[in-house]
Amino acid sequence: MYSLLVLQLLAFVVCYGTVVGAALPITKCKVGDKKCLKESAQAFLPTFALGMPEYKMHSLDPLTIDKVDADNPNLKFKLTNLKVSGLKDCVVKKLEHDADKSKIFLNLLCNVGIEGHYDMKGQIIILPMEGNGKIEADIKKILIKVEANLSEIEKGGTKYWNIKSWDHSFELKDKSMIQFENLFNGNKDLAKAAEDVMKESGNDVIQEVGPPVIKSIASKVVECAQRFFHAVPLNDLVLQ
Ligand SMILES: *[C@@H]1O[C@H](CO)[C@@H](O)[C@H](O)[C@H]1NC(C)=O
Repeated sequence: MYSLLVLQLLAFVVCYGTVVGAALPITKCKVGDKKCLKESAQAFLPTFALGMPEYKMHSLDPLTIDKVDADNPNLKFKLTNLKVSGLKDCVVKKLEHDADKSKIFLNLLCNVGIEGHYDMKGQIIILPMEGNGKIEADIKKILIKVEANLSEIEKGGTKYWNIKSWDHSFELKDKSMIQFENLFNGNKDLAKAAEDVMKESGNDVIQEVGPPVIKSIASKVVECAQRFFHAVPLNDLVLQ
């Protein structure tokens, strides 16, 4: 019993020591070296996306989102228990740091899977829609562009980056799929037209009802980036 405890303690110390002691898998780049920055970000992305508990960064793949209120003027639309997957495999298309303007530009090309529960009533692409049940989306090649204003903060004489404000946009570069189960409470006649639209025009549907969901995903990513910036000194990120 006693020796088991010692063993567990030892295992804990060893694991903990590895996590804390491990060097950050980051290549420091010179200011203005776009290629270096892009490659460094690409190499770091899986580590970042799988979460770094030592920096209080939760997993982004899978990413769980409890609730998204996605109402628009034509549609009452609530999403709950969303599971988002695929972010760790995003391709970094661009990462630029404009040191003069203190800005960062990040473009990610991702294949994102979303599963969860929906509850809606209203119209999508001027078609009546109603239902609640399982929702599934397979978003192929979504190009997410994030732009952020940075500032520097100082803690105990050490400088850190801070995301002061940010904005995002997205483009769908391929044909995406979206599926709602139990439309019109399972009434097949009523659901037929709606299902046809989903099948034919997945991208239009996502453009119309998706932005709050994409925004929520982007917020989670930015939140993790903020925790990372607040934990890792600027000197460990940029070659001075
Ligand atoms: C960055 O800051 C400028 C000046 O305050 C502001 O106009 C702009 O909207 C901000 N951009 C983002 C992406 O937050």
